[in-house]
Amino acid sequence: MDAQKIREQFPILRERVNGKALVYFDNGATHPKPTSVVDAEVKFYHHDNANVHRGVHALSQRATDSYEGVRNKLCKFFGTNNTQEYIFSSGTTASFNLLSTTLAPRVEAGDTIVVTRMEHHANFVPWQQLALSKKAKFEIVELKSDFTLDRDHFKRAMAMKPKIVSFSAMSNVLGHKNPVSELATLAKQAGAIVLVDGAQLVAHDEFKISDLGLIDAFVFSAHKISGPTGVGVMWAREEFLKSLPPYQFGGDMITFVEDQSTIWNELPWKFEAGTPNIAGVIGLGAALDFMTEIGRGNILKLEHELVKQGLAKLKQVKGLKILGSESHEGRAPIFSFILEGVHPHDIATLLDLEGIAVRAGHHCAQPLLRHFNQTATTRASLSYYNTAAELDVLVSAIENAKKVFSRGT
Ligand code: ALA
Repeated sequence: MDAQKIREQFPILRERVNGKALVYFDNGATHPKPTSVVDAEVKFYHHDNANVHRGVHALSQRATDSYEGVRNKLCKFFGTNNTQEYIFSSGTTASFNLLSTTLAPRVEAGDTIVVTRMEHHANFVPWQQLALSKKAKFEIVELKSDFTLDRDHFKRAMAMKPKIVSFSAMSNVLGHKNPVSELATLAKQAGAIVLVDGAQLVAHDEFKISDLGLIDAFVFSAHKISGPTGVGVMWAREEFLKSLPPYQFGGDMITFVEDQSTIWNELPWKFEAGTPNIAGVIGLGAALDFMTEIGRGNILKLEHELVKQGLAKLKQVKGLKILGSESHEGRAPIFSFILEGVHPHDIATLLDLEGIAVRAGHHCAQPLLRHFNQTATTRASLSYYNTAAELDVLVSAIENAKKVFSRGT
């Protein structure tokens, strides 16, 4: 596989920033889009632009076929065979709001909802607020000193017989994989509904839904895997989806509207009220094709090499501490770090001057950063198309940042 050929398919990588070649290390926030994804959206607007499920005319049929066809691609990508189990939303946040709202009637005072310390706010705040509104207990499973989840704490939390357990498959700050199947088994044995935030895992691992064990739902956003922004996917077991009430009311989610009552549409449309992001979903289909063409196994191999190189190179920077495991196993090339004496925002600003895009801040994970007594870190999040040479550019820019700040002290 030719890394250069892969890079050529992302036009954004030809940008120059502050006179320097762009080094894009902010893939955790959003992934660059290949030409094929942009083309798929343009093709839809240029040739097929019509609403879905609403017209008998040719364009509407074509739009519907392309939109619905993406559910088949998802089945293939994740090794499932039921297209009804894929709901399109506007993103991971929207999916968790759907879940927390539709599950709300099941939660009563005194019940327990469990999340972990490493959750993104999208999988933290909706449950925290639900627990507050119902006077339920909100249990946060802590981490061990090696940054992994405290399994003993998780087991103690399961002894509380929680109604809902919702956890991240991979932290967007630490970059670790969680043992999803093992946690899901424990949660199911405790009788919980098990929900998984896959926003990062989907970009950095090769898996089938069945590999994730006894989960009820798995959610992610298209833009993390080179699809468009504003599109999310919620996979959920058919029986579980059937047990939920609709989330939003309106067009497309109905079969029949009487004057005083309404019959809901079948799955998956019961959860897709209103005109969806048709072009965006079609763009997601192109992104799935793109990743399949490169090969998810190949992506994993390329990223594993970047993990090894990244850890080795960053370890050599004196005063730099990585928040996350220093072992390259079970890890994505997501490196959150703090640099002695330099604020993360200052580092990110100096890196930007060198054309390097990183994210600095709390990464939408304030409960996690609080655990480390930090308010911000700098995060370099890499993807399979990044290179060891780009890591060298990063390391040398960090060394320069250190020099700039040592001059001032
Ligand atoms: N969840 C995205 C990130 O980690 C926005 O940066």
